[in-house]
Amino acid sequence: MKDIRDNARKLMEKFCYVCPVCNGRACAGEIPGMGGLGSGSSFAGNVQALAEIKFNMRLIHDVTDPDTSTTILGKKLALPVLAAPIGGVSFNMGGGISEEQYAEAIINGCKARSILGCTGDGVPEFIYSAGFAAIKKAGGHGVPFIKPWEDDELFRKIELARATGTDILGMDIDAAGLITLRKMGRPVSPRPMAKLADIIKKSGLKFIVKGIMTPDEAELAIEAGADAIVVSNHGGRVLDHAPATATVLPAIAATVKGRIAVLVDGGVRSGGDILKLLALGADAAMIGRPFSIAAVGGLQEGVEKYIDTLQGELKQTMVLTGTRSAVTVDRGILFTRE
Ligand SMILES: Cc1cc2nc3c(=O)[nH]c(=O)nc-3n(C[C@H](O)[C@H](O)[C@H](O)COP(=O)(O)O)c2cc1C
Repeated sequence: MKDIRDNARKLMEKFCYVCPVCNGRACAGEIPGMGGLGSGSSFAGNVQALAEIKFNMRLIHDVTDPDTSTTILGKKLALPVLAAPIGGVSFNMGGGISEEQYAEAIINGCKARSILGCTGDGVPEFIYSAGFAAIKKAGGHGVPFIKPWEDDELFRKIELARATGTDILGMDIDAAGLITLRKMGRPVSPRPMAKLADIIKKSGLKFIVKGIMTPDEAELAIEAGADAIVVSNHGGRVLDHAPATATVLPAIAATVKGRIAVLVDGGVRSGGDILKLLALGADAAMIGRPFSIAAVGGLQEGVEKYIDTLQGELKQTMVLTGTRSAVTVDRGILFTRE
């Protein structure tokens, strides 16, 4: 990974500093770019909240070869991880590789390691079209995310998404806060529940609603017919001073777990972070920026190596906490002060 990261640091010069820990401090406020909005506190808070959670170490048990696999929306994954949808390689990452190369690295790298890659959406048009093309080329293995555009554009894109062969579609409803879209004269807005329900029904696909940060909106997503939610503050890019996703996850999971797949992202940087989120009630985690660094620095091979690293870390942490399977993770693996 060192060579891959060194290469990414060169190719992403002035857009991402490929810091030892990707924590949102050096890039605070850099949008376009890889940073978080405004003070960068929502991005940094995601990383910080995870860092503050500690494990109980347990070694008197028989877990030596834990099972990292899980099933999300009918898809068997080698580990409970999805590469988060990320778009705008030219204006967010410096354009060292093309949008097409980026999408193919993510989708094919994830497919090769039996997890799911997602693709992003935005302005210009080639952001979503590069993602859709990569998913189609991979036989529909991947999840396209689209933004809540006005009806004509939205339903046109849903049709194009279906043509990729995927049976899962995602929507980042929190894109309403994106200054990049506003700057390009193409803002999107929040949608009432009935409208979201209509979109989900008409899509005819398994549907992931991304950008849920409260239990009441998780309930609304279920009511609207979603199959999964992503507890997400868009990596801190849409609302400054949002709470950390690891902080809001337990209450959301307690409310909806078992009725809908609960995914979470924001600041996940290691196999240990993945296990922490599973213990807090998530079914799987999404990872954003570190996948971007792996893809820009090493294309498909970089993505595969990064997934191998995560899986190794996850296994190690499962052994050291006595966790047999990623599907049933005991909250008791987390340390709490009496
Ligand atoms: C440069 C950049 C572009 C992004 N583009 C999208 C996008 O097109 N669609 C989307 O749903 N989320 C997008 N996101 C948000 C990510 O999917 C994800 O929520 C976030 O990066 C997770 O936080 P992390 O990077 O700390 O892991 C983007 C994030 C970044 C940093």
